[in-house]
Amino acid sequence: MLKRGFCLFRANLFRNVTSKENLKMKSWQIHSYGDLSEMQLNSSRLPVIKSPKEVLVEVKAASVNPIDVLMLGGYGRTLFQMLRNFELEFPLTLGRDFSGTVIAKGHEVGNEISIGDEVYGFIPIHKQGCFAETVIAEKFHLLPKPKQLSHVESASLLYATMTAWSALFIFGNVFKQMKGLRILVMGASGGVGCSAVQLLKSQGCQVFATCSSDAVPLVQSLGANQVFDYKDPDFTKQVEQEGRYHIILDAAKIGYQNIPKSWQYETYITLNSPLLLNTDKHGFICGSASSVIDLLQANLLHKTGGSVKWAFFVPDRKGLRFINELINAGKIKPVVHKTFKFENLSDGIKAVSEGHLRGKVVIDFN
Ligand SMILES: NC(=O)c1ccc[n+]([C@@H]2O[C@H](COP(=O)([O-])OP(=O)(O)OC[C@H]3O[C@@H](n4cnc5c(N)ncnc54)[C@H](OP(=O)(O)O)[C@@H]3O)[C@@H](O)[C@H]2O)c1
Repeated sequence: MLKRGFCLFRANLFRNVTSKENLKMKSWQIHSYGDLSEMQLNSSRLPVIKSPKEVLVEVKAASVNPIDVLMLGGYGRTLFQMLRNFELEFPLTLGRDFSGTVIAKGHEVGNEISIGDEVYGFIPIHKQGCFAETVIAEKFHLLPKPKQLSHVESASLLYATMTAWSALFIFGNVFKQMKGLRILVMGASGGVGCSAVQLLKSQGCQVFATCSSDAVPLVQSLGANQVFDYKDPDFTKQVEQEGRYHIILDAAKIGYQNIPKSWQYETYITLNSPLLLNTDKHGFICGSASSVIDLLQANLLHKTGGSVKWAFFVPDRKGLRFINELINAGKIKPVVHKTFKFENLSDGIKAVSEGHLRGKVVIDFN
């Protein structure tokens, strides 16, 4: 029975992808870690659905995230290889969020997703990514593309917004009473920051934000109650004078050690924990242990303001649905810094590595 189901599913797959010449596609791959010169645009085999809950998507747009730049350099390889069950690491395709069209689906995907549907979604960190003409995604990590948005706009939203949601809702534990919370978003002009400001505003929080002078109008337009220009000589004082913050969300890699002692806050959340660097450097066991010590030290020895927490992107279905509703209601809007053509993906990665982004860099496959 199982075998018959699988055969039917394979037949379905091939019937639906016959338009793809010889079941080949173009994909950006790396064969070892390093710099941009490792990025190769290759002709590779179309990925095959291996689980009945998977979907094959023709990618129309994908965003570039800082994690792509970091992974290119080998960041996180120890932990990611464990998540991959030590399967073959290379060739590796990067790319975490996308928008596109469903071209095949496994037999347990159900009626919620049909072939031909336009969807947007994300790929967990240890899976082959979406810098390729097609990608395999789990049905739980996809939703219909917002009708009011283009593929480029849709592709810009999920990884950054899910990261902001994970940091605040899961690690910040703000599930219950959000209304009136005073939250300072540092790095509000970047991908995660733009999403965090809009997400928090939609929940009735009082949002304070930091960014560079030129980005102040953008961050104000996203609804922040107060925007602090970190280039202003009085910046530290201005942030301090606003009083106590329930949460400081650090989306600018500032580090708790660099938060002025005069600032008052209950919880500081960073998106840049030392965990992956430590496990790469010292192996899983020693690296994890030294990270726990780092966190304990941050909370006990060097404690200046409130508690220190680490946050990570979590591929949570509930979070995805929650964010999707806000996006469809127009409460979280895309902010696209720049688009690049698929053939010029390396330029997009270079742009992200150079920083100073105002929203997201997106790769347009058309
Ligand atoms: N842990 C996870 O799972 C996870 C997931 C996603 C992202 N992240 C991390 O979270 C961080 C943010 O990600 P992102 O995608 O938003 O990056 P991004 O798009 O590069 O945004 C960073 C923003 O911070 C601004 N900035 C730099 N220095 C600043 C400062 N001192 N004060 C205020 N703003 C400053 C930058 O602009 P200017 O330099 O022009 O000011 C830029 O707009 C990255 O470090 C990324 O690696 C972690």
